[in-house]
Amino acid sequence: MNCTKCKTKAVIDLPRHNAAFCTPCFTTYVHEQVAYAIKHQRMFGPDDRILVAVSGGKDSLALWDILLKRGYKADALYVDLGIPGYSAKSRAKVERFADTVARPHGATLQIHTVQEEEGAGIKELSNLVHRPTCATCGTIKRYQFNKAAVEQEYDVMATGHNLDDEASRLLGNVLHWQDEYLDKQSPILPASVEGFAKKVKPLYRLSERELAAYALLNKIDYIVEECPMAKGSKMLLYKEVLNRLETESPGTKHRFYWGFLEKQTQAQPAATSMAEKDQALLHPCKTCGQPTTGEICSYCKMMARARLSSSSARPTS
Ligand code: AMP
Ligand code: FES
Ligand code: ZN
Repeated sequence: MNCTKCKTKAVIDLPRHNAAFCTPCFTTYVHEQVAYAIKHQRMFGPDDRILVAVSGGKDSLALWDILLKRGYKADALYVDLGIPGYSAKSRAKVERFADTVARPHGATLQIHTVQEEEGAGIKELSNLVHRPTCATCGTIKRYQFNKAAVEQEYDVMATGHNLDDEASRLLGNVLHWQDEYLDKQSPILPASVEGFAKKVKPLYRLSERELAAYALLNKIDYIVEECPMAKGSKMLLYKEVLNRLETESPGTKHRFYWGFLEKQTQAQPAATSMAEKDQALLHPCKTCGQPTTGEICSYCKMMARARLSSSSARPTS
C-alpha cells in the first residue's frame, strides 16, 4: 500500500477518503482538516487567545499540539476530578506534554483540582447529590471551562471532541428526538450572552482512529484507558454501532454528521437565531453570575445540595 500523495510506503489507510498516507502526508492531512474546520466554521483568527481543555487523552493533546504547531496562542486547562486510579495518570500525561511540548512554544497549563476547590472528589460529590458520576462531572467541567475562559478573557474555549464523539451524540439526540440538544449541537457555539465563552470543536472532521494514529506517529504520550466511570455508557454503545456501520460502509459517520450540519445551516442561520434565543432565556445566576435559564445555575444548585447533604450527614456533638 503506497501513499496516495507521494507514492512512498503508506502507514495508514483511510477507507472513508479512499486514500492511504505515509507519516508526513498523514500529518499534513490532519493539520489541513483542522485548518479547514477553523476557517469554514469561523472558529478563531491568528491573534485570538485560545484556552484548550485537555484531559490527557489523545484528542485534546493532539488538538493542543496541532494548534501550537500552527502558531496559535493556545494555553490549556486540566480539571483534576480526583478519580481513583485514573486522574493521577491522566494529569501526569498532561503535565509531561505541557513541560516538553507546550512550554517551548510559550504556552501555559493551569490545573483546577475538584477536591481542593469543590471540597470533595467527583465520586463523593455525586454520592452527595444522588446523581450519576458522569452527569456531576459534566456539570463541573462545563462550569469550570466557561469560568476560566471568561475570567481570564480568552477569546475562545476549545475542546477535543472528534467526529466519533459528535456522530454518536447526534445519534443519541436523534434516537430520543432531543430537539433542544439538536439545535445546539454544533462545532461552534457563539458567546451569545455576556458571561458565556465562545466554544469550538476543531477536531470534528477527524475520527477517533485518525487522532490515535496522529498521536502515535507524532510521539504524543497520552492516557489510553477510557475513564472508568464511562463503562457501559450509552455513548460507547452508539460509538460501537457507528463503527460497525463504518466498517460495512466507509464514510457513514462523516456523511451522517456533516450532512446534519449542512441541513442545520440551511434550516436556520444558526449563530444569529441561537444568540437571540439565548438572550431572551438567559440571565445571571444569583449565586455565581454565570448565565442560566433559572434563578440559580445547575452548578450552584448542585454544590448547594452537596453542602446540605454533607452537613446533614455529619454527626452532631
Ligand atoms: P469527554 O467528554 O471525556 O469525551 O471529553 C471531551 C473533551 O472535553 C476532551 O477532548 C477535552 O477537550 C475535554 N475534557 C474532558 N475531560 C477533561 C478534563 N478532566 N480536564 C480538561 N478537559 C477535559
Ligand atoms: Fe467525567 Fe469520567 S470523565 S466521570
Ligand atoms: Zn451559579
